[in-house]
Amino acid sequence: MTRLALAMLSTCTVFALATPALANSGEQVLADVCGACHTRDEQGKYSRIDDSRRTPEGWDMNVVRMIRNYGLDG
Ligand code: HEC
Repeated sequence: MTRLALAMLSTCTVFALATPALANSGEQVLADVCGACHTRDEQGKYSRIDDSRRTPEGWDMNVVRMIRNYGLDG
């Protein structure tokens, strides 16, 4: 096997391992931090969060607002 193929193989392995871990922690943050106030309905959707549509920038601003307004920084 060539050096390049080996390098590509290991990069793919890292991505394959990293992606589920990232998805997990996002879910975890939502459940742990946001779930304190945003309860889930019978379909497992978070109140106000699942039914709002915004741009990535809008989400950033919203999360900052949640942190600032509701003291989530510590
Ligand atoms: C301490 C309670 C509390 C926590 C924790 C909390 N929120 Fe909220 N959130 C609220 C309240 C109350 C509202 C409605 C009033 C408002 O928009 O500020 C709201 C509104 C929202 C909205 C709708 C805003 C809009 O303009 O329509 C979104 C989206 C949202 N929260 C996302 C989140 C996310 C993501 C997190 C976790 C990072 C989070 N919230 C954590 C209390 C909370």
